[in-house]
Amino acid sequence: MFIINSSVIETKQVHENIFIQKIHSPEIAEIIKPGQFLNIRVSEATFPLLRRPFSICDVEGENIYLMFNILGEGTRILARKNPGELIDILGPLGNGFKLDDDFKSAIIVAGGLGAAPFPFVTRSLKNKKEILTFVGGRTKQDVITYGMENYILSSDDGSIGFNGNVVQSLERNLDKIDIASSKVFGCGPNAMLRVLKDYCINNNLDCEVSTECAMACGFGICQGCPIESTSNTDKYLLVCKDGPVFNVKDVVI
Ligand SMILES: Cc1cc2nc3c(=O)[nH]c(=O)nc-3n(C[C@H](O)[C@H](O)[C@H](O)COP(=O)(O)OP(=O)(O)OC[C@H]3O[C@@H](n4cnc5c(N)ncnc54)[C@H](O)[C@@H]3O)c2cc1C
Ligand code: FES
Repeated sequence: MFIINSSVIETKQVHENIFIQKIHSPEIAEIIKPGQFLNIRVSEATFPLLRRPFSICDVEGENIYLMFNILGEGTRILARKNPGELIDILGPLGNGFKLDDDFKSAIIVAGGLGAAPFPFVTRSLKNKKEILTFVGGRTKQDVITYGMENYILSSDDGSIGFNGNVVQSLERNLDKIDIASSKVFGCGPNAMLRVLKDYCINNNLDCEVSTECAMACGFGICQGCPIESTSNTDKYLLVCKDGPVFNVKDVVI
C-alpha cells in the first residue's frame, strides 16, 4: 500500500456527467488488481477533509484510470484537475475480484456507475475467458459501456436496450449462459445488488459483487464501514478491508 502523489495526464468526459481520469502512477499500476480501490485526497485544503474512495477502472502500462460522476465537492474538484496536477492517492486497498477461479464464462452485471471496475476486469479476462456483459441504468444517460465487451443493454425507462432492470435483462438471457461453468461479477447500487444476489442464489450461479458504503480510513482502522456477515462467527465484516468484493453468499446486502 502506498501514499503517493501521482500526476494527472488527462480528464475526459465520456458520457453525460461521467469522467475518465488518466493518472500516471507506475507504483500502483504495477500491483493493483481488478476490484481493488484507491482512497484519494482530492485537495490540500481542509475541505473536503476525508479521502474519497474510487474503484480502479483500468490499468494500461504505468497509467491508471478512474471513472466517476460529479456528486459533491470531492468529485467536482477531481474533475477540474489539469494535466500535470498531482493527486494524493492511498492504495491499492481492498481485496479485488477472484478472477482465477475455475470458471469458463464471466457474466458481468453493471448497474449505472457500477460500470467503474469492469474495464479492468474485462481487460484482465480477455482472451482467457468468455465474457458476456449486462449493462443497465435508469435511462440511457446512465448506461455506461466504456471499456466493456460483448454487452447487452437495458434501461428502466426503455430509452435504450431492453426495457427493464439489469437483473431482468440477465434473466431474459439465461439461455445464453451455462450456469455450471459461469461466474457472475456485479457492481451497482445496493438495491440492484440485493436483487442480483437473490437471483444468483435461486439459480445456483456463483456470484461476487463489489459493494459500496461510506468510508473514512479505507484500510480497517476506523471501523466505519461494517457489512453484516452471513456467518455466525464474524457478525460484521469491513467493506474496506474484507471487501469491497464479497461472494453474495457471505454477506447481507
Ligand atoms: C469501494 C468504493 C468504490 C467507489 N468507486 C467509485 C467509482 O469508481 N466512481 C465513483 O464515481 N464513485 C465511486 N464510489 C463512490 C465515491 O466514493 C463517492 O461518489 C464520492 O465519495 C463522492 O464524493 P463527493 O465529495 O463528490 O461527494 P460527497 O459530498 O461526499 O457526497 C455528495 C452526495 O452524494 C452522496 N454520496 C456520497 N457517496 C455516495 C455513495 N457511495 N453512494 C450514494 N451516494 C453517495 C452523499 O451522501 C451526498 O448526498 C466508490 C465508493 C466506494 C466505497
Ligand atoms: S473505512 Fe475505516 S475501517 Fe473501513
